[in-house]
Amino acid sequence: MRQTIVVGNWKMNASKETVNTLVLGVLEGMPDVKSEVIVCVPYPYLCQVEALVAHSQLKIGAQDLNVNASGAFTGEVSADMLKDFGSEYVIVGHSERRSLYGESDEMVAEKVQVALDNGLTPLFCIGELLEEREAGDTETVVARQINAVIKRVGIEVFKNIIIAYEPVWAIGTGVTATPQQAQDTHAYIREILAQSDADIAQSTPILYGGSMNSGNADELIACEDIDGGLIGGASLKSDDFLRICKVG
Ligand code: 13P
Repeated sequence: MRQTIVVGNWKMNASKETVNTLVLGVLEGMPDVKSEVIVCVPYPYLCQVEALVAHSQLKIGAQDLNVNASGAFTGEVSADMLKDFGSEYVIVGHSERRSLYGESDEMVAEKVQVALDNGLTPLFCIGELLEEREAGDTETVVARQINAVIKRVGIEVFKNIIIAYEPVWAIGTGVTATPQQAQDTHAYIREILAQSDADIAQSTPILYGGSMNSGNADELIACEDIDGGLIGGASLKSDDFLRICKVG
């Protein structure tokens, strides 16, 4: 049985005040939550969130990392810095980083490796563009994205990776994949993993992301191969986010 995992990706949305309200609101509901819950925080607020979540079950993640350990990389943040402020997880290969900052499959694979080497659990994001889905290329795209990582780090380390399938056309659009569309792709992702290792294919958590909210989380997470959600917009309000956390 895979545990349900719910991850909030705040993206570039926060202030000291909203962070306090949001985290305290989520913490209040946590005693009723059985899922593992992670919030992925913009860098400047990691320290604040670390203090707020101390001694709770709420876990901290970051939204990206630099592959270098330290040095002359102006504006960048290393894995050690993330761990210094309590991060245990890091989002890698989000479609916004792939499309807006030119991250290739190979760059994403390197980030997955650096995260793993430094004891951070990568939340490894994959997903197709609308044109790719319409052209019938969804499976080719997700296979290419996953195989780039398997090629770099091997299949064994998928024991320490969480995959997030986020169809790009569903991110921030209010258009959610139907449970069937999501389930089909999640099952296919397991098939790709199974080509290397059947046990790992079964144990790897695969989350869905893309306009998941408190109204549709139930039917998505009920699907056999969907193990939780990576939530953008709906993770910014504690009530909405908690409702999703309580689905699992
Ligand atoms: P939305 O939930 O706002 O569509 O964002 C999904 C996402 O990109 C999470 O990483």
